[in-house]
Amino acid sequence: MSETKLEDIVSLAKRRGFMYQGSEIYGGLAGTWDYGPLGVQLKRNIIDAWWKFFVESREDVYGIDAAILMNQKVWQASGHVEGFNDPLVEDVKTKKRYRADHLLEDNGVEAVAAMSIEQMGQALKDHNIVSPDGNPLSDIRQFNMMFKTHVGASEDDTSVSYLRPETAQGMFVNFKNVVDSFSPDMPFALAQVGKAFRNEISPRDFIFRVRELEQMELEVFVHPDVWKEQFETWLSLQKDFYLYLGLPADKLHHVEVPAEDRAHYSKHSIDTEFDFAIGQKELGGCAYRTNHDLTAHAAASGKNLNYIPKDGSDPFIPHVIEPTFGIDRLVLAVIDSAYSVDQSNGEDRVYLRLPEHVAPVKMAISPLLKNKPELVTKAREVFTAAKKMYGSVLWDDNGNIGKRYRRQDEIGTPQCVVIDFQTLEDDTVTVRDRDTTDQIRVPIADLLTPKNSN
Ligand code: GLY
Repeated sequence: MSETKLEDIVSLAKRRGFMYQGSEIYGGLAGTWDYGPLGVQLKRNIIDAWWKFFVESREDVYGIDAAILMNQKVWQASGHVEGFNDPLVEDVKTKKRYRADHLLEDNGVEAVAAMSIEQMGQALKDHNIVSPDGNPLSDIRQFNMMFKTHVGASEDDTSVSYLRPETAQGMFVNFKNVVDSFSPDMPFALAQVGKAFRNEISPRDFIFRVRELEQMELEVFVHPDVWKEQFETWLSLQKDFYLYLGLPADKLHHVEVPAEDRAHYSKHSIDTEFDFAIGQKELGGCAYRTNHDLTAHAAASGKNLNYIPKDGSDPFIPHVIEPTFGIDRLVLAVIDSAYSVDQSNGEDRVYLRLPEHVAPVKMAISPLLKNKPELVTKAREVFTAAKKMYGSVLWDDNGNIGKRYRRQDEIGTPQCVVIDFQTLEDDTVTVRDRDTTDQIRVPIADLLTPKNSN
């Protein structure tokens, strides 16, 4: 369990401009969150790191960016129209809807993940569980989580489409295109980053369970004979990436997903769970999707989705290993891991111990006093040069130096640079370290010499 409280993270996120409630001035829209200036930069840094780690630095991974709206036949063939469901019960008086598995867990029932929908219905009755408002519940039923819409001007069955609930299908339907364009050797992977949408019955826990989310997914196409070793390889790479973002190894747990709780397409899944402030919960997953998707799309589209090996051996429909990352959960885990409190001058000091390559602001630059034009002019010079070099550099002359340090600590800025009277004499500045709060004097020329970055 994390020592950090979720309300502390939510409060900091709003106060400092990481995330805001979606449509807040209208009272919000449940399950949606907007990323503010610092949140979007943090998220972008994570996405960029992922893209470098899994796509740019490898020869066997091909990036794509498929449309969110897809032909409805994609979702029929993939099994999502039939099987992308959550168990729903309704308060018979208020008509409020709840996820049956969440109600069971909230009432202390164990091993809910392994229950079928019928078993959940029975367990609700056996434990006399009522709604949180104390009213009886309806019978349990399956609720399809895809957002349905219509494409074009007519609203009939033929124009139905869905906001994609996973980015994965965009990769399966482009498998043949990429093979035809690039003739990759097997195994190879497609990778995609993008929005996905799930009409969660009860969104909750800040950005942990949301209706509009963002994913980073890989579909690794393999010969069925090697699926097990490939699964281990990609599961291990997935963990390496979490560690690279600064998540502590002792807060990451591999948990095998029981058959009853696996997605309809999976034959074997290992979730990575993380010790969030809200408890040990799923952060990401690695699934063995077999050849479920390509077989289904070949049958439904009439297209040949076989892979033809270059060594002349028999063509086959590839099997798939899928490491999947939910970006919003990852952002939450990164902030949760980084959230730190220590004592400074007899007061609590809150700071985000973010790795430098993840931190939304790399450096803050301040004149010691903002009413001294000579300091401000010099500081602006340093700021302009530093911004050219590091990009995400912040100008901060608001309040006294102590307040500036506190503000930068809270957003995880690794270094605060101050231009003072000595700077005007010898071209050195003070650089304060976020984690130790130690200050050193550094020549401006050193500050502006590129470091080896990650
Ligand atoms: N593609 C797997 C998932 O969306 O969870």
